[in-house]
Amino acid sequence: MTIAITGHLTTEGDRIAALDGGDPRASVQVDPAGGDVVPGFVDCHTHLPFAGWRAEEYEQKVTGVPYEEIARRGGGIASSARALAGASDAAVLAQAEALADEMLRHGTTTLEFKTGYGLSVEGERRQLALARSLAARVQQTSRVTGLFAHAVPPGSEADEWMERVAELVAEADVDALDIYVESVAFSNEHLTRLGALARGRGVALRAHVEQFNTNRSVPVALQAGARSVDHLACLHPDDVAPLAAAECAAVLLPGAEFLGAERLAPGRELLDAGARCVLATDCNPGTSPVASLPLVMGLAVRRYGWTAAEALAAVTIDAAWVLGLDAEVGSLEAGKRADVLVLDCPAGHIPYRLGHNPVAVVVIGGEIVWVRPDQEWRIS
Ligand code: NIG
Ligand code: FE
Repeated sequence: MTIAITGHLTTEGDRIAALDGGDPRASVQVDPAGGDVVPGFVDCHTHLPFAGWRAEEYEQKVTGVPYEEIARRGGGIASSARALAGASDAAVLAQAEALADEMLRHGTTTLEFKTGYGLSVEGERRQLALARSLAARVQQTSRVTGLFAHAVPPGSEADEWMERVAELVAEADVDALDIYVESVAFSNEHLTRLGALARGRGVALRAHVEQFNTNRSVPVALQAGARSVDHLACLHPDDVAPLAAAECAAVLLPGAEFLGAERLAPGRELLDAGARCVLATDCNPGTSPVASLPLVMGLAVRRYGWTAAEALAAVTIDAAWVLGLDAEVGSLEAGKRADVLVLDCPAGHIPYRLGHNPVAVVVIGGEIVWVRPDQEWRIS
């Protein structure tokens, strides 16, 4: 199939053939009618697949129940771990596929899956297998991260669980490893250890750091060779410059910050210092049950003081870099994979019209995979 997007580009097979304004001989013509044409979005930090939701916990949170109390009542990661253990493979995959589909309709053409709700060796193996099944089923390109060090399983100690993590890393087929560093989870020493394991396996190191407290985990992550440090709501000011100078992305998660009334990552300072700043949904049933990158862009622009163009780069080329896919996706260039969005508005409207889904047409790998029902007139 060849697709011409009038005024912009032509695709051939699964590639962008040329930025030639659209070949009138192409088999399918798409009329952007003044809407901008942008690269497909890349969501480099999600927690799919998971089971169920935790709406009751959100209500407790907004009505003032402290996090520790929610956890004491059986909430938090442990509650999603119980839900995952109690759900059939078919039910988990159906929920995750529906979410991946919702993401697709909001423009996400590449995304990350993670483990982390298994909370036992068997549970993590199962979630990894589910993530791999999901990767084979969804229409998007995906990468799978092993978040084996997410929470310390009940009845275990963090040091002891890191031995199990090492065993899982040795056997697992993952594209990256991740860890949650926090007083209630794992320490900077565990982060260093996971860095060594990631190096040994030749996979990228990612880390959830500085979400609720300042643990000075960023220098440790940089020393360990991390490809990204994610969250950063409580980043220490002295860590901005070293992070900006490093080959490591700052993955900011404004959905979690907003819904959890967390502190704000210093998004403006990081960009001004020259950091590679990335936005993601952090889609998970606890801190960020959010699937829409346009919504995340809107939160980032307002709360960090970013331009729409900065937010767009943060969900395209810079997010692709985190997943090691920037040579393949994340920008509109001849030879790259034809993952393209036609918007119903200028790109500058994405953050401004908060809550509006600007995505009219989604092209993945040179195929039209979604046309919003009210936008079918664009295709001929
Ligand atoms: O990225 N902070 C740790 N992990 C997740 C939350 C997981 C959950 O609450 O289920 C996060 O925010
Ligand atoms: Fe996360």
